[in-house]
Amino acid sequence: MEKDKVHVFAPATVANMVCGFDILGFALDEPGDEVYMRRVDKPGVNLVQVTGDDGRLPRDTAKNTVSASVLTYLQHIGRPDVGVEIELHKQMPIGSGLGSSAASTVAGLFAINTLLGNPLSRQELLPFAVLGEELACGHGHADNVAPALMGGITLIRSYDPIDLVSLPVPPSLFASVVFPHVDVPTRDARQMIRTKVALKDAVTQWGNIAGLVAGLYSNDYELIGRSMHDVLIEPTRAILIPEFYEMRRVTMESGALGFGISGSGPSVFAFSRSKAVATQITAAITELLNKHGIGSNGYVSGVNADGPRELGN
Ligand code: HSE
Repeated sequence: MEKDKVHVFAPATVANMVCGFDILGFALDEPGDEVYMRRVDKPGVNLVQVTGDDGRLPRDTAKNTVSASVLTYLQHIGRPDVGVEIELHKQMPIGSGLGSSAASTVAGLFAINTLLGNPLSRQELLPFAVLGEELACGHGHADNVAPALMGGITLIRSYDPIDLVSLPVPPSLFASVVFPHVDVPTRDARQMIRTKVALKDAVTQWGNIAGLVAGLYSNDYELIGRSMHDVLIEPTRAILIPEFYEMRRVTMESGALGFGISGSGPSVFAFSRSKAVATQITAAITELLNKHGIGSNGYVSGVNADGPRELGN
């Protein structure tokens, strides 16, 4: 059934999950972005308001990832007759490594699809969301948009053709996430990484990815923790993140299963096996950063199984 207006939320995400660069990610309960979308008589897509971004995001319909991906979606489904006004309310930090552009893009696509009575499945929305990532950071990785759209933990088994696998979430897996207040644009954080890897390092990485996935399937929390190591990307990107190794130390001392960079950073995250431990870890990292004069936002979250959702008006 088509609607006149919708109000939706789409979640932040943690991409890579330490060892799975560009292929693993999970959705958080909070933070996330909200989109209001209203039908209007005049055909076309109009981005009428953006809040919470300190003026940093493009307002131009063709350049903003939300409006641009909605436009591409409408062209694809053959509905040039549709006219919408979009409000984007950012409720999460930009350039944080928490999938900020993905949350906005997914909120927009979920909103337009809901408004039009769901002509496409969630999975069919993915290519439009990937295009949004390409516009936002110059590369169409799917490890933020896939979990933001599908919820849970997702594996991108292949990009060409895209092959998504939803992975099981062990029942008491909790995430601690901290965003230290330094800006690391994904575009820059991608440019600095090596594009060639040594076979020995690749073997280590494959072992960890397989171990992580096996741990998720068997609820083996120790195996999950042992597998959360990245020998390919983290050593390079850690340089951009203040007190990275100190954060790891306090996190592991507080009882985490594993710790690493969230997406391209500077946010970091840890998995643990209870909400109480996850809360303690977020507090310990925040306190450490504070001591070094670095402000931060801290979150404690389960894995969000639902992805985007409609909110009341
Ligand atoms: N996989 C991407 C990267 C995620 O690490 O660059 C960006 O959030």
